[in-house]
Amino acid sequence: MSDREFLFLLGAARAGGNTEMLARRAAKELPAAVRQRWIRLPEKPLPPFDDRRHAEGGHPDPEGNERLLMDATFAASDLVLASPVYWYSVSAATKLYLDYWSGWIRVAGAEFKPRMRGKTLWGVTVLNETEREAEPLVGMLRLCAHYLGMHWGGVLVGTGSRPGDVLVDDTAMTAARTFFTAASPEQVAAAHP
Ligand SMILES: Cc1cc2nc3c(=O)[nH]c(=O)nc-3n(C[C@H](O)[C@H](O)[C@H](O)COP(=O)(O)O)c2cc1C
Repeated sequence: MSDREFLFLLGAARAGGNTEMLARRAAKELPAAVRQRWIRLPEKPLPPFDDRRHAEGGHPDPEGNERLLMDATFAASDLVLASPVYWYSVSAATKLYLDYWSGWIRVAGAEFKPRMRGKTLWGVTVLNETEREAEPLVGMLRLCAHYLGMHWGGVLVGTGSRPGDVLVDDTAMTAARTFFTAASPEQVAAAHP
């Protein structure tokens, strides 16, 4: 077994849509020794995020789905946020999960920031329109990775609307084959400064 574990966080508001299909196509190429865990975020709902940064007592110790998601995040070497483009950005379930990172940074003893450093953040997304409309999503995920000192894997982008559309997006399907296994944009940049 490899020491890598990919955590796929599916953020769509429907199961079995294009984003999930594209993520599963890309994941098929991962070596068998790499563990995979798949979680549909809407199936592990979180309460509205309570910003307690400047409140007494800070962020409460995570329980229930929040604890499950925090532990799964820590256990992974690679985090894949697979969210459709909703209004040019990530889905609400994905955004809520990211908001919880701000709480986990302040959970006593969790050591969130040091534990996130060195993991790789990846994105997978599908949208109806042209890739340009995914720019806010790509930018926000890249900046999140940068903020936490994570490696940046980049975003695999496909197009589609009805479930199954992405399967005939040849460009996306071809890119999916090497997305997780080719050098990341970060590695390429390091090799060609
Ligand atoms: C709430 C919502 C917002 C959306 N916003 C956009 C958008 O801003 N740009 C776009 O190209 N497609 C948008 N779409 C279309 C989806 O990105 C597209 O249908 C995608 O295939 C849905 O993902 P899924 O098949 O994985 O469920 C939106 C769809 C929904 C439901």
